[in-house]
Amino acid sequence: MRKKMTIIGAGNVGATAAHWAASRGIADVVLLDVVEGVPQGKALDLSQAGPVDGFSVSLTGSNDFADSAGSDVVIITAGLARKPGMSRDDLLAKNVAIVKSCAEQAAKHSPEAVLIVVTNPIDAMVYTAFKVSGFPKNRVIGMAGVLDSARYRTFLAQALGVAPRDVNALVMGIHGDNMLPLVRLANVAGVPVSALLSEEELAAIVKRTQHGGAEIVNHLKTGSAFYTPGLAAVEMAEAVLADSKRVLPCAAYLEGEFGFSGCFLGVPVVIGASGVERILEFPLTDEEKAAMAESEVAVRKQMAATGL
Ligand code: 2OP
Repeated sequence: MRKKMTIIGAGNVGATAAHWAASRGIADVVLLDVVEGVPQGKALDLSQAGPVDGFSVSLTGSNDFADSAGSDVVIITAGLARKPGMSRDDLLAKNVAIVKSCAEQAAKHSPEAVLIVVTNPIDAMVYTAFKVSGFPKNRVIGMAGVLDSARYRTFLAQALGVAPRDVNALVMGIHGDNMLPLVRLANVAGVPVSALLSEEELAAIVKRTQHGGAEIVNHLKTGSAFYTPGLAAVEMAEAVLADSKRVLPCAAYLEGEFGFSGCFLGVPVVIGASGVERILEFPLTDEEKAAMAESEVAVRKQMAATGL
């Protein structure tokens, strides 16, 4: 039997995630939204790409959580997106109520699922879903590091004039201005980028990565990025559905790893059928530790604002 995945929220990120998931054929997809007709129309449109794109998975649009029952993975994208001048934190009050209700329903209808949270501010929303669902920590994961690392890798590849897939680079910490793109570990096919780019060039790339989401919001004016956020969530979902043990940077619940406890922060994790199967801990420099501590302060402020 094929695996089943539900995507909550049929807006730009949700619908794009459905698109990537169908095209990769990773699972049957249920696209859920409160707005009547939108998930149905988008799922129907997308399903008609099957004969051309070659996928066989089914796509169902629905306004009823009952249709999501028994999902192996639930991706939560529902919520408001940023407009120019807004920080991700500005969304917190509205989105916490939305994510609470989505996580409650997801837990009720798919008690064995792995939850992947995309709604912003991600680090607080994944905490909200963790608290409300009652799921174990391994089955609640925040999407951020795959997206932020993809931006970092893209900018490095552009500066180096190399294929983006050959750039390995990791972004840790919060999905916000305090995120930590690690320069020390970034490499192109094993060659350290610090040997190929100047300190000034690297500093500019780090800064652009930290503000990568806002750069797109400022272009779009009506919302935020969705192609790569949607794909990043699907990359994580595929690792769960295929039990592939991919190593991906994700917001995971920490209990002592890297010196942090009781909060979600972006760290490298092994993803398999049960979600976060392992956190890959490694020694950080003092500077990196300080950056992670700044991330933690910002995440805890967001957590406090959830009231949970
Ligand atoms: C971004 O960074 C949507 O927060 C997401 O683009």
